[in-house]
Amino acid sequence: MRIVVIGGTGHIGSYLVPRLVRAGHEVIVLSRGERDAYHPDAAWQRVRRIRLDRDALDAAGTFGATVADLGADAVVDLVCFTVASARHLAEALRGRTGLLLHCGTIWVHGPLAEVPVTEDAPREPFGEYGTAKAEIESYLIGEARRGGTPATVLHAGHIVGPGWQPCNPVGNFDLRVFGALARGEEVALPNFGLETLHHVHADDVAQAFERALNRRGAAVGESFHVTSPQALTLRGYAAAVAGWFGAQPRLRFEPFDTWARDVDPEDARTSKEHLEHSPSMSIEKARTLLGYAPRYSSPQAVRESLAWLIARDQVDTGGASLV
Ligand SMILES: NC(=O)c1ccc[n+]([C@@H]2O[C@H](COP(=O)([O-])OP(=O)(O)OC[C@H]3O[C@@H](n4cnc5c(N)ncnc54)[C@H](OP(=O)(O)O)[C@@H]3O)[C@@H](O)[C@H]2O)c1
Repeated sequence: MRIVVIGGTGHIGSYLVPRLVRAGHEVIVLSRGERDAYHPDAAWQRVRRIRLDRDALDAAGTFGATVADLGADAVVDLVCFTVASARHLAEALRGRTGLLLHCGTIWVHGPLAEVPVTEDAPREPFGEYGTAKAEIESYLIGEARRGGTPATVLHAGHIVGPGWQPCNPVGNFDLRVFGALARGEEVALPNFGLETLHHVHADDVAQAFERALNRRGAAVGESFHVTSPQALTLRGYAAAVAGWFGAQPRLRFEPFDTWARDVDPEDARTSKEHLEHSPSMSIEKARTLLGYAPRYSSPQAVRESLAWLIARDQVDTGGASLV
């Protein structure tokens, strides 16, 4: 197939693009060209790269036609954040491509009732990002089921992998939390530490995209959760991290507002958003219909990221090593 990947040099694309090349596809990557893939891979030599700014072309009303004119059998859209942008692309691709694969987020659900939550659970998204992604999903899946542009939405969890910072056991990206746990120091967790995070390794997200491309018949008109097999509680996550360094977890629990007083306001805001979502997703649908088989548990995925960060002196473990 000829496959266009919009935003193919980021977390997901760094794994997805080499996978597609190795599977024998012709791959065209669209991005502004401000960054390269996270990992060097000879597969990139066989990739055609086109520099463009999707936002600028969206504003000019030419992005959809630009993509459609590439004559792709499938289009993977990794960087779409408004329903207007999704509609513009889907309309341009109508009758001109076999599959539009959109990257969504597990935050389309908002707060959960029954967990692990399934794709068909009632949605209560909140916040600009989750709300917009839910609107995009509703539009794309609705159109696909009505015979419009064939589309699939894959909802990724908290993406983890070498090269960037994993969401930590207090639900933000402060690397000092990992350092304190590694050194066996006391760490304060919000509430009872029982709220959840649901990570996924970027290569498992890439795997799901590849499987959806291969099982187009099962994928069209459907959305799927793409996460590790199980979510982590904050305290379970913190204990696992300490254990990786041979340390005993020393955890203190505080009501969220008390906890937040000692935390950078931006980190506290990020934690609040993560805790209010407390995702715990079912991946049964992706397993059954797409054959999705994640290679990484949440701890395995985070551990790999952490090893990468430690090797680059970005986490002060006090000399402790991963055991
Ligand atoms: N990160 C997470 O934990 C997470 C969780 C759930 C869902 N998601 C979803 O994952 C998707 C993002 O994937 P990712 O994490 O792989 O992305 P990423 O790492 O942020 O990379 C973004 C990619 O898009 C390109 N790009 C950014 N702005 C662009 C523009 N205006 N025009 C053209 N290209 C542009 C970037 O290259 P240039 O900078 O060179 O243009 C890069 O290739 C989003 O749909 C998001 O909702 C992410």
